[in-house]
Amino acid sequence: MAEVKTYNYLLRQDDGKDYRELGEYRAAGGYKAVLKAVRLGPDAVIAEMKKASVRGRGGAGFPAGIKWGFVPKETDKPKYLVVNADEGEPGTFKDNYFLSHDPHRLIEGCIICSMALGIETCYIYIRGEFFEQIDTVTRAIEQCYEAGILGESVMRTDQKLDVYVHPGAGAYICGEETALLESLEGKPGQPRLKPPFPAVVGAFGCPTVINNVETLATVPLIVEHGADWFVGLGVERDGGSRICGVSGHVNNPGLFEVGVGANMRDIIYELAGGVSEGREIKAVIPGGSSCPVLTKDEIDVPLTVEGLKEVDSMLGTCGIIVIAEGTCVVKCLQRISHFYAHESCGQCTPCREGTGWVARIIDNIEAGRAKMSDLDLLLDVADSIGGNTICALGDAAELPVLSFVSKFREDFAEHIRQGCCPFDDQPLPRH
Ligand SMILES: Cc1cc2nc3c(=O)[nH]c(=O)nc-3n(C[C@H](O)[C@H](O)[C@H](O)COP(=O)(O)O)c2cc1C
Repeated sequence: MAEVKTYNYLLRQDDGKDYRELGEYRAAGGYKAVLKAVRLGPDAVIAEMKKASVRGRGGAGFPAGIKWGFVPKETDKPKYLVVNADEGEPGTFKDNYFLSHDPHRLIEGCIICSMALGIETCYIYIRGEFFEQIDTVTRAIEQCYEAGILGESVMRTDQKLDVYVHPGAGAYICGEETALLESLEGKPGQPRLKPPFPAVVGAFGCPTVINNVETLATVPLIVEHGADWFVGLGVERDGGSRICGVSGHVNNPGLFEVGVGANMRDIIYELAGGVSEGREIKAVIPGGSSCPVLTKDEIDVPLTVEGLKEVDSMLGTCGIIVIAEGTCVVKCLQRISHFYAHESCGQCTPCREGTGWVARIIDNIEAGRAKMSDLDLLLDVADSIGGNTICALGDAAELPVLSFVSKFREDFAEHIRQGCCPFDDQPLPRH
């Protein structure tokens, strides 16, 4: 096993400082990257972002610099920056770190992005259940207005920037970028057809950049240290360090900042302390619950967008969920499927109807009420959701089903043969 290098560029070491306080943040060099961005100028900042090859940290992995480049330079409409702080994907808890402990890092990233793209209004859309985080970010914004970091003249430059916090109302679908825009506009959170993409027609019909919290939090680092340095932390076409969260049956669950490309098995065994009670791994979900599950033989992979594609899964949000031997994978899938059935917005028929069907068939399998033919029915129903919906929630509901059933078919069949869950009397390690 190779030693996994960890970093403290994004995830600060516990040094007793309270980075929610503007004074502490500035004392540690905070907001200096804004001044450097002013010196560089908008075109150079966008060029650095492209060169840094930072892939979006919200799940889809789209290169942030390229996305910024899609925003029209000349337009008579206002442009907006929208921060996706909805963080609703099960297994994902990294953005929460910035919202709870380091909100100025996010605000600094927002200022630099706004300067580069000529944006004067930014909305931070925060998950509704994050009551304390909403207060923390709001307070940080207030501190910035008082200090002249936000408002009519950002740090005495001719840049104007207003930042607003918009709390969500607890719907997972509002993390999908166009549903988020609908919600921001005061409408029900239902995804829009794309194209047009938000960079051209976004919030209130105007050009809009939507980025994840962690994506924007990396921006001050890129400006401060340069794109070459940032690229060097990761791999070609997937630069930087990123925060991966490990949860589930591990001895030391938590957040770890690693270079993009770190090995997933090593992260689980070295950083997260290995599997609870010395058990073997049964399965790993690599990037949040919507990513296809992996068996223990498939986890020797680099954490990159391409690396996870090689094993037919996705890097997603880098939220690794470890499932120990002795766990009922049918119950895991049941839990995941009920989540997607509950969170479907109901706009597209295959998702509205299909997610409920899927959950009910899995309920029957878990309870021992199913027939063998239900396994193929399950695959068929799941297959008819993905690719047939406006947004990717349909794929998120389909992919776990296909991967769990194909990789652990025997476990599903055993439930049907025994007429009950064979794992019901197994004590499970809990975290
Ligand atoms: C159902 C669904 C839920 C999503 N939830 C989130 C979320 O909570 N946070 C997030 O940043 N991106 C989420 N996304 C991805 C966003 O649509 C979008 O790709 C992302 O905000 C873009 O930011 P990035 O390019 O910086 O990653 C979700 C996507 C889907 C389909």
